[in-house]
Amino acid sequence: MTKNELLKFIHDIAIVPVVKIDDAAKAVPLAKAMMAGGIPVAEITFRTAAAEEAIRNVTKACPEMVVGAGTVINPALAEKAVAAGAKFIVSAGLNPETVRWCNEHDIPCVPGVCTPSEIELGLSLGLDTLKFFPAEASGGVKMLKDFAGPFPQVKFMTTGGINPANLLDYARTPNVLAIGGSWMVKADLIENEQWDEITRLCSEAVTQVQGLEFVHVGINNADDKEAMKVAQAFAAFGMGINNGNSSIFMDKAIEVMKTPFYGEKGHLAFRCPDLERTVAYLEKKGFTVRQESVKYDAKGKMKICYFNEEIGGFAIHLVK
Ligand code: 3PG
Repeated sequence: MTKNELLKFIHDIAIVPVVKIDDAAKAVPLAKAMMAGGIPVAEITFRTAAAEEAIRNVTKACPEMVVGAGTVINPALAEKAVAAGAKFIVSAGLNPETVRWCNEHDIPCVPGVCTPSEIELGLSLGLDTLKFFPAEASGGVKMLKDFAGPFPQVKFMTTGGINPANLLDYARTPNVLAIGGSWMVKADLIENEQWDEITRLCSEAVTQVQGLEFVHVGINNADDKEAMKVAQAFAAFGMGINNGNSSIFMDKAIEVMKTPFYGEKGHLAFRCPDLERTVAYLEKKGFTVRQESVKYDAKGKMKICYFNEEIGGFAIHLVK
């Protein structure tokens, strides 16, 4: 995997569990539990003596799991981690020596920063993806939005104080590449071998991070005349008519189509902050993008798409 492929992989998975493990023998069942929950990536931290062996065990037993090493405070530790199989290096702070070692060895490195000066240091070392740590204590989403002004080219892996209650705020922040945290792999869950619970928490996080919200239903009609009849019937329920070119919106909830558009009966539209990510997520569930339906914004990011598969006679529509 090239650096860009790795970053795209992490972006699409969106959640990076931050693991602190005391018993390397538990690393493989832990990795399997995370993968079963839809998270084939993890940061195993050098906060315990078992980290190196845990990385080695997982990379050997689960080659499809992308393992990074965390809390890598110097080049020697980075070298150890990579020798054990780590595919990327993470640290809480930014040690230029570690970054240089990673650059020389072509190993993706995501050091931690929480100030503009540290971001500039990261940029000067050739990095444009950084870890924002400790996220909540350093100003959270508000701080990330302020970073976007002077540093529009920088993307952040955010960790520190993130959990299901504030996860979505981060997922909706455009300069967030992915969200890290320990809430789904807490030490006691690993200690007590609660693999099903870890799978459940991972799966819940992966769904939640999509930020999917139902926004409207589209109803297909043969022509303008039939559409107007349908719209007028809905107007009797107090809904406002907003007549457009190809459809009539009833408030924002019902889109009365003037043609038999996608879907046997119509479509269901869901809003989400990152269509590329949610397409990757839904593809794993068997949905395929209807290529001719895809539209992009000025920055080249997907803003609209439909899927080939229908639910109950309705095409599924994603919108930003
Ligand atoms: C890290 O190093 O990224 C953090 O320890 C993870 O933060 P959390 O435990 O608050 O999720």
